[in-house]
Amino acid sequence: MTDDRAPSAPAADGFPPTPGSLDPEALRRRALDALLTARARTATLTDSVEDGELTAQHSPLMSPLVWDLAHIGNQEEQWLLRAVGGRQALRPEIDGLYDAFEHPRSARPSLPLLAPAEARTYASDVRGRALDILEAAPLHEGGRPLERAGFAFGMIAQHEQQHDETMLITHQLRSGPAALTAPAPPDPTDAGSLPGEVLVPAGPFTMGTSAEPWALDNERPAHRREVAAFHLDTSPVTCGAYQRFMADGGYTDPRWWAPEGWDMVREHGLTAPLFWHRDAGQWLRLRFGVTEPVPDDEPVLHVSWYEADAYARWAGRRLPTESEWEKAARHDPATGRSLRYPWGDTDPTPEHANLGQRHLRPARAGAYPAGRAPSGAGQLIGDVWEWTSSDFLPYPGFVAFPYREYSDVFFGPGHKVLRGGSFAVDQVACRGTFRNWDLPVRRQIFSGFRTARDA
Ligand code: AVJ
Ligand code: FE
Repeated sequence: MTDDRAPSAPAADGFPPTPGSLDPEALRRRALDALLTARARTATLTDSVEDGELTAQHSPLMSPLVWDLAHIGNQEEQWLLRAVGGRQALRPEIDGLYDAFEHPRSARPSLPLLAPAEARTYASDVRGRALDILEAAPLHEGGRPLERAGFAFGMIAQHEQQHDETMLITHQLRSGPAALTAPAPPDPTDAGSLPGEVLVPAGPFTMGTSAEPWALDNERPAHRREVAAFHLDTSPVTCGAYQRFMADGGYTDPRWWAPEGWDMVREHGLTAPLFWHRDAGQWLRLRFGVTEPVPDDEPVLHVSWYEADAYARWAGRRLPTESEWEKAARHDPATGRSLRYPWGDTDPTPEHANLGQRHLRPARAGAYPAGRAPSGAGQLIGDVWEWTSSDFLPYPGFVAFPYREYSDVFFGPGHKVLRGGSFAVDQVACRGTFRNWDLPVRRQIFSGFRTARDA
């Protein structure tokens, strides 16, 4: 980490640490809780289908679930057991199998992977040892960078939760009856009275963080950005609004599309978001094994960056830049500070945002009034990942930590930034500064968007 911060002094981004948040014992409990929460989710995702489905290829876009399971264990072994704990490799021969850069996802089903029972045993052996190491690790400021503030433990909990989101995508792509169920998210209470867009006045704000203990390398360091005045949609674009684009010939008019997006539409014959089909004059969607009518007032899901970009152009608007998104989500004009979350500096609760796979769908536009930002925008955290117009680039002063393959090798014009997290991401891997990225053609991810315009 690049932090050099005294617990009592506000950091460069003005984010005052929550009382006790830098206390090593509080961080140790937080790390333990984050690791246990992630493992419970991993167990649900891998115990809810037969072993044969764990080794199957549900889509060439995804790994078999059993690869994710052992890869989770292998990353934990490399960082917590070997790097932090100084232990010998438990099974050095399997490192290559679970190196995401050695084998593309489509090739993983034919590797000599650990069988489901072996993968479960391996992950739980690693976990037992990792918890011993956590118990004894010195997490104080000024310690080794990997251990300081429990960073490596937080990083590994985030890594597991990111793969839990990936495994949920695999569940969405698998065919057959539903394996997972969850209650519906809360309904909006005052959606009808919400303005369609909010105005974010011109001025500088602090982007990124140097203070958040478990922020990943690409979120660092905090730095000032000038942002011109703009308007931003109060809520993500809904399925109903998106259907108006479709009904207006959105997918048949090259005017709305970036050239590569238009190529994609023609090559794949796209007419709607992924998982939608038309039946008896109505749009239906497949969601975790259940076919249901597309709900008009729910944020649209499973659209590529190209579709989001085309919709915005059709609407006479544009996608927000990443800086605009973060300013609308974090800037508090009353204090000039950037908040950890739109609602403030406190961790998310179920009243703030739809996170953690508690619900297996986005909440309707206008839900979560307690989660709104000072800008007035809502549902920035949770529900759907939001495409921005920005390429994934390092912030000024970026330092790769602890490995280049997390962020550094992905920087460049090929990847577009997504912000805010989805219903499928856990709070440990979601905050106002968290950055996700993907190829602009991707649509199996839990992606939606909102639009903006210059003021
Ligand atoms: C940040 C979600 C793009 O899934 O490829 C998992 C996260 N990095 N293992 C991905 C990640 C290494 C990453 N994303
Ligand atoms: Fe990984």
